[in-house]
Amino acid sequence: MKTLRLLVDANDPETRSSREAIDRAAEILRGGGTVAFPTETVYGLGAHALDEEAVGRIFTAKQRPAWDPLIVHIGDPARISHLAREIPANAQRLMDVFWPGPLTLLLPKRAEVPNLVTAGLPRVGLRMPAHPVAQALLRAAAIPVAAPSANTFGRTSPTRADHVAEDLDGRIDAILDGGETTHGVESTVADVSDEGCVIYRPGVVTLEQMRAVCQGTVTLRGPDTSLDMADDNAAASPGMSVRHYAPRARLVLIEGDGEFQKVAFGDAARQCEESGQSLGLMLPDAFQMAVIGRRARVYRWGNWSDPEELAQRLYAGLRWLDAAGVSTILCPVPRGEGLAVAIRDRLLKAAAKGGS
Ligand code: TXA
Ligand code: MG
Repeated sequence: MKTLRLLVDANDPETRSSREAIDRAAEILRGGGTVAFPTETVYGLGAHALDEEAVGRIFTAKQRPAWDPLIVHIGDPARISHLAREIPANAQRLMDVFWPGPLTLLLPKRAEVPNLVTAGLPRVGLRMPAHPVAQALLRAAAIPVAAPSANTFGRTSPTRADHVAEDLDGRIDAILDGGETTHGVESTVADVSDEGCVIYRPGVVTLEQMRAVCQGTVTLRGPDTSLDMADDNAAASPGMSVRHYAPRARLVLIEGDGEFQKVAFGDAARQCEESGQSLGLMLPDAFQMAVIGRRARVYRWGNWSDPEELAQRLYAGLRWLDAAGVSTILCPVPRGEGLAVAIRDRLLKAAAKGGS
């Protein structure tokens, strides 16, 4: 199939040409087709959430296994009652504060939501995105839109329309190109009840922010434990336990703190060079001195003490180094709170062994 490229100005989705692009995309969605669109986190690959055949096209295009459930995006919170059977008070609190925004809530699903969307699970992931293009599209389509990240299953999520095209050109109906996404990593996925909340996937809304709003306990299925997750956890939120977000090159993570981490990064780069590997570096500014004189393709990742910037540029960097054809990518892993938790989670999964 030919994939349409529809341009839209994210700063002003109301211009005539932006409007036309959005209306066209909405029409495709309503008719059961697939459209990639920007959200504030990453690009999503959307289809009519209540049309099982349309949802099936997402799985086919992404080569995504049927056990991995999809997030349903809504433009209007009033829609929730059509999709979820109940809204715990904690969910309402979180929605009041973080919607529209990068938070996905798992709520008991109504029978109208196809089992394909939730991979047979009893809850459906709901999110109301904040991106102006996503909002305009959802309003124009006036349907709930199921949308996973718009990449081939297991690969790095797309933060630009070109990334989507790299993976899905010819496999989907259209790409709504609204430029770069804002945050660069995915939404926080949380299971909410009146007792509290379990974060299955750390994301842009941080644990600290959730704790400030949610009553009861807020716990994180940690990025480290998720690598050896037991089967019961995997069943609670599939897609969390396997290799994901991965570049094609071998990804080698450098742990540590402060100067030790920089020395370790420099040593690893030297060893890779000596063993003749074609090397790519995810290079934060603060690490430059450690790799002076190394032969490597370098992606200037940004300010090591600015997790917002690191998150925004993470996937673009991994894709850029892949495109440069390196065989090994060295990447220091951030530690700490806030958004660093999400960056760390993605890197650990991207470097994990095992099939995606
Ligand atoms: O930021 C985001 O969340 C992006 C944008 C496009 O909204 N979407 C995204 O979707 O990252 P995806 O499919 O790549 O990741 C969604 C993950 C699934 O792999 C699964 O682990 C979890 O969210 N999930 C979704 N629905 C679920 C459900 N009903 N029960 C348990 N986990 C669910
Ligand atoms: Mg994904």
